[in-house]
Amino acid sequence: MSQGFWKSIKKPIIGLSPMDGVTDAAFRLIVAKYGNPSISFTEFTSVEAIKYGAIKALKAFKYSNMERPVIAQIYGKTLDAFYNATLIACEMGFDGIDINMGCPSKGVAGNGAGAALIKEPEFAKKIIRTCIKASKDWSEGQNIDQNDIHPDIKAFLDKLNLDFPRKLIPISVKTRIGFDTIITEEWISNLLETKPAAISIHGRTLKQMYSGEANWEEIKKAAKIIKQTETLVLGNGDIKNLTDAKSKIEYAGTDGALIGRASFGNPWVFNGKNATLAEKLIVALEQSKAHSELLGEPFDPIKKHLCWYCKDFDGAKETRMELMQSKNFEEVQTILKNKISQKS
Ligand SMILES: Cc1cc2nc3c(=O)[nH]c(=O)nc-3n(C[C@H](O)[C@H](O)[C@H](O)COP(=O)(O)O)c2cc1C
Repeated sequence: MSQGFWKSIKKPIIGLSPMDGVTDAAFRLIVAKYGNPSISFTEFTSVEAIKYGAIKALKAFKYSNMERPVIAQIYGKTLDAFYNATLIACEMGFDGIDINMGCPSKGVAGNGAGAALIKEPEFAKKIIRTCIKASKDWSEGQNIDQNDIHPDIKAFLDKLNLDFPRKLIPISVKTRIGFDTIITEEWISNLLETKPAAISIHGRTLKQMYSGEANWEEIKKAAKIIKQTETLVLGNGDIKNLTDAKSKIEYAGTDGALIGRASFGNPWVFNGKNATLAEKLIVALEQSKAHSELLGEPFDPIKKHLCWYCKDFDGAKETRMELMQSKNFEEVQTILKNKISQKS
C-alpha cells in the first residue's frame, strides 16, 4: 500500500468533503485561501464519461496548487475505465485518488456505482485493486499513450504539457455505513482487505440519503477496526463548525473528519473564523471572478454559492433575487460592490 501524502499529514485532518456541483475549482481555491483545510476533494467524476471521451468530465479535475494535497474523486462500475481514469488523475498531478462508494443518487447508485457497491463487496475490492495497480503502473512509467484512452482525452492532456514526477499516488475510498441496513464492521473489514490509504465514512446508510442524523457511534466502530491497520480513517456527517469537528473526531477516535454542507458560503469553517458580512460579500465577489476565469460558461453554477454568502442581513432576500437574475461576472460585480459599500 502507498500512503503517499497521508503518511505525513498533520492530524487531526480536517478536509473539504467532495460535493458534486459545489466543490468546483473556484470554490476549492477560495476554501484553500480563506479556510486552508488539510485536504480537498474534487467533485466526483464518472470514469465511464472519461472512457467515452467526455472532456467536460475533466473540468472537475481542474485545481490550483494552493489546494494541495488535492484528491481527485472518481466513480463508476467498469474496471478498465477505473484503470484509465486513475492513470489520467496520476498524470494530472493529483496527490491522491478517491473512489466514491457512497453516492446514493439514482443516477449513480441506481446504475450500480457509488453506494450500490456496498452490495457488491467482491466487486468493490476489485475496483480498489484496479486503481492501486494503475497507480503503481503509472509510477513505474506506464504511459497513457500505451492505453486505450479516448483520442479526445489524449489530445486534451497533450495540450496541458504535463510532466509530474512519477511516484505512487495513494488510493482512498469514501463510503457509508451500509446500503439499507447498517453493516459498518462487515463492510469496512471487507474494504480493509485491499489496504486503501484512507477510508472516509459518512455515518448514514444509502437508504437514509441525507435524512436523520449521521451516526457517529457507527463511525467510532469503523475507526476502531481501521485503527488496527495502516489505513487512516476520516469521519463525516453533520459537522457544524470547527469545534464540533474536533469533538466528533475525539469522540469517534478518527484521524480526522470531512466537512461538507457547513462550508456552503463559509470557507472559514476550517479555521473557525467568524467572517463579517463585508468579508463574505468580498469573498463572494472573488469566487465569482475565479469562477469566470477558471470555469467560464455556464455561469449559473456560481449562483447558489453567491446566495449562500448573502444571508442574514437586511435586504438579503432582495440581493439574492438580483444575483439569481445576473448573467455574468460584470453584473454580479455591480450588485455586490454596491452592497459592499453599503455594508462596510
Ligand atoms: C450537494 C452535494 C453533493 C455531493 N457530492 C458528493 C460527491 O461528489 N462525492 C461524495 O463522495 N460525496 C458527495 N456528497 C456527500 C458529502 O461529501 C458528505 O458526505 C455529506 O454531505 C455529509 O457531510 P456533511 O453533513 O458535512 O455535509 C455530496 C453532498 C452534497 C450535499
